[in-house]
Amino acid sequence: MSDSVTAFAPASIGNVAVGFDMLGLALADVGDRVIARPVPEPGITIAEVRGLDGEIHPYLSTDPEQNTASIAAKALWEVHGTTAGVELKVHKGVPLQSGMGSSAASAVAAVVAVNALLDEPLEQEKLLPYALEGEKFASGALHADNVAPSLLGGLILCPTTLLPEVVRLPSPPGVNAVLLHPELQVNTAHARRGLSKGYSMDQWLQQQGYLAGFVAACASGDIDLIRRSLHDVVIEPQRAAAVPCFEDVKEAALRAGALGCSLSGSGPSIFALGEERKARNIASAMEQSCRSNGIGCQSWVSPMNAQGARLEG
Ligand code: HSE
Repeated sequence: MSDSVTAFAPASIGNVAVGFDMLGLALADVGDRVIARPVPEPGITIAEVRGLDGEIHPYLSTDPEQNTASIAAKALWEVHGTTAGVELKVHKGVPLQSGMGSSAASAVAAVVAVNALLDEPLEQEKLLPYALEGEKFASGALHADNVAPSLLGGLILCPTTLLPEVVRLPSPPGVNAVLLHPELQVNTAHARRGLSKGYSMDQWLQQQGYLAGFVAACASGDIDLIRRSLHDVVIEPQRAAAVPCFEDVKEAALRAGALGCSLSGSGPSIFALGEERKARNIASAMEQSCRSNGIGCQSWVSPMNAQGARLEG
């Protein structure tokens, strides 16, 4: 049997304020790793799950039916694998329940690693439906706004009406993403259940305008149009209260020159977009504001065209 392979999959910003469940952005330098090894026993198993500290993860299960990595890997292996099996090791780099696409990163890293063990590996885009099986288990719904950017990198438009196809949007030049992770947790499935089912025509029209404006701004590189479009009038107002520092951090980001600022996915992480030359200051302002609320935090600055999942080694 051949040696093990290691895949890295980045964290991601879901929704990007304007596109609930249909727009996502990959982050550079933070992600999960999955090591996959062919074994003679059939099926997918998990040998270990390690946390950010490198220790065995205290909460995440090694039960293959309960982990997004193995669920995604199994979906792929059942269709394209051999009669033998694969053993996974999952090394988390993305904090849990952070709004940074933690479950998606594990699912994506798993399918990319297992794909490399297939006799005829699939093209990376073709792995999306399998990775989505893992994400579905974690969030209780079908949305690709974390899985698709984690798999493919950059800024991805992925409405369910198009899946399994997605559209790569151009990254506006000279713009960075800033991601602040306050040391809090929000359960995505729970946060989704709390969302209103009914919206007004005004909200619908406004949000459509913002999404269209943002997509047009990315295509044309119009920084001012990004500033005028990066707003969420539908989801953010319903979720902001779950993140006690949100309003202060947002205000700090905007004061530091951010083009816009909102929750990353269901939170608690908060993202901002800003011109490259201001991005570090925006990150510092957000961190300072979060800490002055008594909440520890970490931040990352990322280009808008961060690389997607890849094999390492
Ligand atoms: N689009 C999803 C949500 C992303 O906002 O519920 C979760 O990270």
